[in-house]
Amino acid sequence: MNTITGTDISRAARFLKEGHLVAIPTETVYGLAGNALNEDAVLNIFRTKNRPAFDPLIVHVSGVKEADKYAINIPDVAYELMKNFWPGPLTILLQKKQIIPDLVTSGLSTVALRMPDHRMTLALLEQLDFPLAAPSANPFGYISPTTAGHVADQLSGKIHYILDGGACRVGIESTIIGFENNRCIVYRLGGMDIDKILQIAGDVQVAESGNPLPNAPGMLASHYAPSRPVYFGDLNQLMKKWQSANAAFLCFTGKGFDFPPGSNVYTLSPQGNLDEAAKHLFTALRDFDKSDAEFLLAEKFPDKGLGKAINDRLMRASARE
Ligand code: TXA
Ligand code: MG
Repeated sequence: MNTITGTDISRAARFLKEGHLVAIPTETVYGLAGNALNEDAVLNIFRTKNRPAFDPLIVHVSGVKEADKYAINIPDVAYELMKNFWPGPLTILLQKKQIIPDLVTSGLSTVALRMPDHRMTLALLEQLDFPLAAPSANPFGYISPTTAGHVADQLSGKIHYILDGGACRVGIESTIIGFENNRCIVYRLGGMDIDKILQIAGDVQVAESGNPLPNAPGMLASHYAPSRPVYFGDLNQLMKKWQSANAAFLCFTGKGFDFPPGSNVYTLSPQGNLDEAAKHLFTALRDFDKSDAEFLLAEKFPDKGLGKAINDRLMRASARE
């Protein structure tokens, strides 16, 4: 199959209407999209990503009103969160209506809904009369793509079209929340700072991580993983423990470290801005993977704002099984 990269929204819409897959830009990461109401298209997403069938997909919609088409018993606080943060990096688990195929939700009774904040993808959704099921556009377990080029690196020849919307503004996947007994639970840390959710929801609990059950989204221990070792923690200690002439380093501002001359150093935000660091994280992991460095030593980021999500991804990138 010939994979075309371009900016033609109508062309992307045509492919999707025909049941084909298209990679779409969002503010978080690129998604591998197909018609969420078409089981063949959904099956093809699982196949193309090599994704296990127990791992459900997020359904992308064009507005708050759309949520009522696909979910029932939506809590008031969920509406409040949608009104405040959609479009944006917040995915909400809601009780699903039958119109959503069980395949999309891996048989769960909830559906994950999100309205992405990207001009091109919102325009695309306007041209469609169905929502888009879209996991991140990477092979299962690998680093999420934040540019059209990242998608092409791995999915060229496997999908019809890559809609090129530039580099993703947020750079890390959406925050996923759900409700248990009216309590707001965070299942995956992500691009939406949980302190902002707290301001609306009043109470937020972060779910235990490392649980590979499908109702603990994005929580598989090993994920986002480059093919060579990543060691994550206090960078000064790691540098003492793991010495090599061919190590690479990933750090926040880069200040305060004595890196060996000539080594690959990925500094995510020289100014110390966590949002900027999140935006550059996955590109740095991919660049490390393409380099010939033996391993990556990654600094633990400040445990606040998007630093929490960055630490979560680095911990998973460093897990070996
Ligand atoms: O930012 C994002 O969320 C990106 C862009 C493309 O929207 N998408 C994304 O999708 O990260 P994916 O498939 O890579 O991660 C979605 C996570 C999965 O870990 C899955 O287990 C979880 O969402 N999920 C989806 N539906 C669920 C459901 N009904 N219940 C529990 N978890 C669900
Ligand atoms: Mg993913």
